[in-house]
Amino acid sequence: MKNLLSIEALNRQEIYEILELAEAMKATRGHHDVLPLAGQCWALIFSKSSTRTRVSFEVGIRELGADVMFLSASDIQLGRGEPIKDTARVMGRMLDGAVIRTYLQSDVEEFAHYSNIPTINALTDDEHPCQILADLQTIREKLGGVEGRSVCFVGDGACNVPRSWIWAAAKLDFELRIAAPPSFQPDPELLERIGPKARVVVTDDLQEAARGADVLYTDVWVSMGKEDEAAYRLSQLGPYQINRELVELAAPGAIVMHCLPAYRGKEITEETLEAHAHTLFDQAENRLHAQKAVLQLLGRNP
Ligand code: CP
Ligand code: NVA
Repeated sequence: MKNLLSIEALNRQEIYEILELAEAMKATRGHHDVLPLAGQCWALIFSKSSTRTRVSFEVGIRELGADVMFLSASDIQLGRGEPIKDTARVMGRMLDGAVIRTYLQSDVEEFAHYSNIPTINALTDDEHPCQILADLQTIREKLGGVEGRSVCFVGDGACNVPRSWIWAAAKLDFELRIAAPPSFQPDPELLERIGPKARVVVTDDLQEAARGADVLYTDVWVSMGKEDEAAYRLSQLGPYQINRELVELAAPGAIVMHCLPAYRGKEITEETLEAHAHTLFDQAENRLHAQKAVLQLLGRNP
């Protein structure tokens, strides 16, 4: 593994390698035997806001022995139109790795290609692989693993988080149900690409999708970059909320997950969020451990 650009690009074995190392990272936090990134310098290059991803990468990179710098894309020449391929070639001469949050997936891929240093996708419009790895770690902790389970994603089924979940369902053996109104269902071309073996069900019947599910999962209704569509999104997605009634339809002991940030009263109620806060904040914490696993695996092949 040279980069982490998507869940699409990972295979089952690589996913498990990351999850096992993530578990070890969590267990040995504060007393790691080796610092795999010692002497290195990594950069975070972000074009979108972030709390969890930024903090977990900055802390994780330091905990693994490297220096880290945060670069807002608008503050560097990239924001004034310097091409990605030039930025990447400059940074590749100086840095040991890059973590990028931006809009186009192709921009992260271009950076990885031209920089020739380990590059991590910290969220694009297409995928949020670091999130899904932390989610899988959380499901392992809470339910013993995702395989054989059913995960019900509720809300904007076309955005980055469900897209990465769809690729996870293509690699691992579990059922993914996506409950979304017709205008926010996943791209049919994506569903074709994952192939017939992946167990992905897309429906606008929220109650049916939630019935008996082991995991209820949601994300914001208005993703970053979609603010102009906020009114339309709220009008379409209103019924697709995780609340007490929906949780009652899920399997006994079902867990509720949210990648956060959460908008209470929109995709999840205050009551349900607080009732499941232990899971949601373990999920957020696992960003740190899962990403440290990725960093160790990538950092040893600079
Ligand atoms: N879930 C997530 O990626 O959060 P941030 O946008 O705060 O990084
Ligand atoms: N779908 C959301 C995820 C935030 C972590 C967004 O792209 O804004």
